[in-house]
Amino acid sequence: MIRAIRGATTADENTRESIFSAVQELMARIMDANSLDTADIADIIFTATPDITAVFPAAAVRGMGITDVPLLDMAAPDVDGALKMCIRVMIHINTEFGNDQLRHIYLKGARSLRPDLAKKISVAIDGPAGAGKSSVAKRAAKDMGYVYIDTGAMYRTVGVYGLINDIDVINKPEDIVSELDRIRIDISYEGGMQKMYLNGADVSERIREQDASMAASAVATVREVRARLVELQREMAKKGGVVMDGRDIGSVVLPDAELKIYLTASVYERAMRRYREYIEKNMECDFESLRQEVEARDKNDMTRAESPLVQTEDAVLLDTSEMNFEEAVAAVEEFIRKAEEYSAV
Ligand code: DC
Repeated sequence: MIRAIRGATTADENTRESIFSAVQELMARIMDANSLDTADIADIIFTATPDITAVFPAAAVRGMGITDVPLLDMAAPDVDGALKMCIRVMIHINTEFGNDQLRHIYLKGARSLRPDLAKKISVAIDGPAGAGKSSVAKRAAKDMGYVYIDTGAMYRTVGVYGLINDIDVINKPEDIVSELDRIRIDISYEGGMQKMYLNGADVSERIREQDASMAASAVATVREVRARLVELQREMAKKGGVVMDGRDIGSVVLPDAELKIYLTASVYERAMRRYREYIEKNMECDFESLRQEVEARDKNDMTRAESPLVQTEDAVLLDTSEMNFEEAVAAVEEFIRKAEEYSAV
């Protein structure tokens, strides 16, 4: 039976090299995903948008050593608002498989053509305080159509409960345990923002104050607190399509996440970023005490007995010390795209 497999990709530039690499990646992925052998292929038809002029896409197939398959290049219609630099392919194959068993592959910019085929994965982002995890994760999630879950906000909410109720969480964090049944945390997403409610009161801003950071770090050392919050986090991630950030996401909360990123930056750089944030908000601060606080939280988070912050073996390292925000977002999005493509096979 002759059946057809579809695919598409985009070239980064209108150069022979860029077009060859895009087409060869697309062909390799289609052949791999469908366990195709050259002998199964009846013919291959490419279309290219009018901005692809450097080379015929089919030439890239010859470049892969596929010489005995009939190939054809055609011009895609010049449609208003169409995806730029797009190369589409239709491969006719001889197969016993039904249409529902064939894998169509859309890569790079062309993923947007078939959102129904994109597999959403679970993304775990861990790293020390102030590395930019939340802002980077939030933006990447928005761009890629994922739900962002900030787990630090949950520990902060428990910490704030302690502060409001005069529990000495810094020196005796375990005192929070007897209070756990009186702490109700609700989370809602309003305009893409994660809002935190503590026993019905909106504490989304209160949890960002400086004293809430240390209180969170302190209560996060308590096993019972972690057990409660981890359960909540797993429940929220059940359906997939989440970018979750924290300290133990890859190691404990979502050990099977398809993508784990350890996002970090130097102590100096992290303290400097916090310093700039405070200055921008006209909040009082002192660089040296911020630096010491970053160090203290690192120590707390990395050396505690319960689920310490670690880079798991299967996590990719992303050091953003020398990156600006946009560069860090781009790097995370690229990791997500690759992991989606990989797990779709
Ligand atoms: O990411 P953050 O600064 O909002 O986190 C606040 C504290 O909560 C942090 O010092 C450690 C703790 N935390 C944790 O132990 N595990 C998580 N998954 C997230 C945060």
